[in-house]
Amino acid sequence: MNPVFVAIDTTDVHRAAAIARGIRGLAGGVKLGLEFFCANGEEGVLHICEGELPLFLDLKFHDIPNTVGKAVASIAHLSPAVLTVHAAGGREMMAAAKAAAPKRTKVVAVTVLTSLDQQDLSDTGVSGSAEEQVKRLAALAREAGIDGIVCSGEEVAAARAEWPDGYFVVPGVRPAEADAGDQKRVVTPQEAVSDGASILVIGRPITESPDPARALQEIAATLPQPTRKSA
Ligand code: C5P
Repeated sequence: MNPVFVAIDTTDVHRAAAIARGIRGLAGGVKLGLEFFCANGEEGVLHICEGELPLFLDLKFHDIPNTVGKAVASIAHLSPAVLTVHAAGGREMMAAAKAAAPKRTKVVAVTVLTSLDQQDLSDTGVSGSAEEQVKRLAALAREAGIDGIVCSGEEVAAARAEWPDGYFVVPGVRPAEADAGDQKRVVTPQEAVSDGASILVIGRPITESPDPARALQEIAATLPQPTRKSA
């Protein structure tokens, strides 16, 4: 399977559908997030995936265990290949998400949002470094029995070494020649997969290309074969 999930970050269901049509059969799947889901709901999701394109539903659940379990149960019929929760919601919350998810769904945790810097973390009462917090929350996710974490391409080799059968979702990767945009720390798709990424999340280099299918195929052609841990 192609490990690239294409991040379609828009509220415009027609634009999203056009992108999805162009990459159907080529991408590992699509990632739809909060902005799309809030604007278009499950009808929008079904319209984009049409039961064919694997779905990464990136809603980053974070609430009490009972509520998160029920929220996951409410989207279970969409059969997402991957869904996200916040590790900061705690062990019991992550376990509740996993218990409510379909058997084949990978439940992965977001550790520390990359939009938070050291000062932001300390403002929320986290006294250690961001790195320490990522490590602590990754270990907690594993203990909770979920499948893996979202991590950067720079962190994935260490994460894989610590958690050999973990499922690692790596966003923020960029083909060698692409514009990094607002992503600050980038690795190439090839490096991320070689370092142990299970799937890659790539948005704008594909969705803003005049030919998304071709951009995706060019990225896929650079990946090591066979890909690791992508099932
Ligand atoms: O367009 P781009 O490839 O930067 O999109 C990356 C996708 O991955 C976006 O949907 C973004 O929200 C998500 N993401 C990220 N960095 C993280 C976590 C998620 O870019 N640390």
